[in-house]
Amino acid sequence: MDVNYWNEFADEYDEHVIDAFTYGRSKTVGQQVKRFASMEKDVADFGCGPGKMLPYLSEKFRMVYGYDFSDKLLDSARKRCVDLKNVHIEQADLSLPVDHLPLVDVIVSLNAVLMPDPELRTNFLRGMASRLKPGGHLIMNVPSAESLLYGYFREIEWNRRDGHSLTEAEKLVEPHCIISPEQTSRGVFIRGTEPTKHYLREELIVLAREEMKLETLDVIKMEYDWKTEMEDDSTPDWMGEPYPWDWILVARKN
Ligand SMILES: C[S@@+](CC[C@H](N)C(=O)[O-])C[C@H]1O[C@@H](n2cnc3c(N)ncnc32)[C@H](O)[C@@H]1O
Repeated sequence: MDVNYWNEFADEYDEHVIDAFTYGRSKTVGQQVKRFASMEKDVADFGCGPGKMLPYLSEKFRMVYGYDFSDKLLDSARKRCVDLKNVHIEQADLSLPVDHLPLVDVIVSLNAVLMPDPELRTNFLRGMASRLKPGGHLIMNVPSAESLLYGYFREIEWNRRDGHSLTEAEKLVEPHCIISPEQTSRGVFIRGTEPTKHYLREELIVLAREEMKLETLDVIKMEYDWKTEMEDDSTPDWMGEPYPWDWILVARKN
């Protein structure tokens, strides 16, 4: 999932990516942003991609910075924000040192810290936290490891309701996302075609404290509909709550 991957993916992005801001149930991302929004504060979107959230942030903050390393996705973001005077979009590899980026009051990052490489991932997390002003807030959305396993549980239930015995129902589920025991122990699963880091709730709390030096305020479920999660329109109507989810870490720099 390097810059070439994201560049090649840019033309199909809007069609294929279920982004948290647009598709999350109950507008959870927006609700968290509103908690800390003010026209006297500046915000940055780390890994903004095609910038779907930037117009929303532009209405709620004084200055909005959008960073990403994909020039193609940033082209889409620039087109989207062409008339927005308070949005500044800049190319940056956020796994490299980011000391040159301005300090801000709020940082939002939606499904950007997905890289399986632990060094690149930790650099991204530390760099991002370093750009928060004291008292500033981070809102970071990432895939949930728990939710991925829970999805398999629900698939078994689906097979049972289709008339299979429990043993048959379990056997019918093919765990396509699981790469190997080693990768599973690291929270890395295939999503689409790519190895993708998934996080445990407790892991996020430790990462906030140990790597980012932030105080966790909340770890919130950002729910999706089953139809978007399973990419299968035949998902039965009974498959309701609890819905699949990403985690949103909300943390403060003290
Ligand atoms: C799944 S997309 C999410 C984009 C956007 N936040 C959204 O929700 O639609 C992940 C984004 O992270 C960006 N990204 C991944 N690694 C990066 C890095 N090291 N530096 C900058 N951007 C990165 C990718 O280019 C891509 O735009």
